[in-house]
Amino acid sequence: MPNKNATLTIADQSVSLPLVEGTHGPGCIDIGGLYHDTGHFTFDAGFGATAACKSAITYIDGEKGVLMYRGYPIEQLAEQSNFLEVAYLLLEGELPSDAEMTKFEHDVTHHTMMHESVKNFLHGFHYDAHPMAMLCAAIASLSAFYHDTTDNEDPAQRKLAAIRLIAKMPTIAAAAYRYSIGWPIRYPRNNLEYVTRFLHMMFEVPSEPLELNPVVAKALDLLFILHADHEQNASTSTVRLVGSTGANPYASVAAGIAALWGPAHGGANEAVLKMLAEIGDAKHVEGAVARAKDKDSGFRLMGFGHRVYKNFDPRAKIIREMTHKVLDALGVNDPLLEVALKLEEAALKDDYFVERKLYPNVDFYSGIIYKALKIPTEMFTVMFAIARTAGWIAHWIEQHEMPGGRIYRPRQLYVGATPRDYVVLGKR
Ligand code: ACO
Repeated sequence: MPNKNATLTIADQSVSLPLVEGTHGPGCIDIGGLYHDTGHFTFDAGFGATAACKSAITYIDGEKGVLMYRGYPIEQLAEQSNFLEVAYLLLEGELPSDAEMTKFEHDVTHHTMMHESVKNFLHGFHYDAHPMAMLCAAIASLSAFYHDTTDNEDPAQRKLAAIRLIAKMPTIAAAAYRYSIGWPIRYPRNNLEYVTRFLHMMFEVPSEPLELNPVVAKALDLLFILHADHEQNASTSTVRLVGSTGANPYASVAAGIAALWGPAHGGANEAVLKMLAEIGDAKHVEGAVARAKDKDSGFRLMGFGHRVYKNFDPRAKIIREMTHKVLDALGVNDPLLEVALKLEEAALKDDYFVERKLYPNVDFYSGIIYKALKIPTEMFTVMFAIARTAGWIAHWIEQHEMPGGRIYRPRQLYVGATPRDYVVLGKR
């Protein structure tokens, strides 16, 4: 019988810590009783070695470059599924039957409208507001519109919130974009499927029909699949942290949007394109790599490195292949692709990047595709948010369904002043 405990010795005290196993991948040492038993916390800045919850949604093996949603390899889903089916899978745990898929599509399709007051709310922004700021605020505002259906304990209301968020996110995202460029907002056309409907809301003008190359919808659908979930990343952990307080789903997801915005996370796709444009030409790549290695420069290669993947990000592999296909199919000749390829090549053979296992991540190539699809740069992270909504809300629901949930409340290693006495003003 294998030992199911780990032993920790602190000075002359030994404590036995239970090992807990998941269904696949590494197990964990349960340190829940550590402070009680020893008076010590664990220190793990940035949670690099800490599992904060149990989850049955997504599995990553960062050493081997494996990503699975509900047990299905990302490569198979990317090849054979579509975003809405993946959203169902993340939420429900199983692939839908025909009837289940029809109902899910119907439900999502019939919640795509936003309240007219949300439109007015967006109109309160200055015209040059960043669409992520507008999206974050507008999604938080949904809790005001649906405050009568935010009983977190009611499974039907939880499901309704999931449908509303998945359905309305593209509508609000497109509205935010159109407001920023002074175009009239387009209402969702429910005779179209999810991604095509979004593209129509983004690009259709009242004066003429939109000619849409099917390659565009196909590519965007694939990008949505690849971005739909990624276990306990910063934004999903934020959704769970906020959700753990009992906050409603709209407020929790709005917090996730805020976390996603940072350039170390979802904001990286926008930052990659800006970086490639700044590098400008393949002949400046060596200089950029040198600058990224210089800690004093404050510059990192955006789209490189990942907390979990110490091998190729499997999503980056799929996107890299797709980038060439999409650019060929759309007849786009983007010099930034050449810069990106040269940058990847230079970094992958450079000792600094090799030793630190820094590979291109999901966002290294996604920006080039978004650009080819004519998605404006400031909307890149919004695209990510639309897709990740499926994962965020699946995690929020799981958190409410799984027994033993507690408020997230990390501890700290205090490094501040030691106890001292207050001195009144005038005597300091
Ligand atoms: N360029 C240059 N050096 C880097 C990079 C990079 N992109 N990423 C990490 N490093 C270096 C660090 O300086 C550090 O070096 P050191 O050991 O000499 O101090 C080492 O590699 C480890 O880096 P950490 O910052 O400790 O790694 P961490 O896991 O905390 O960060 C992160 C991961 C945030 C993704 C980081 O690699 C990064 O900033 N990448 C660029 C931004 C990016 O692309 N973000 C998107 C991530 S994917 C996503 O969220 C969808």
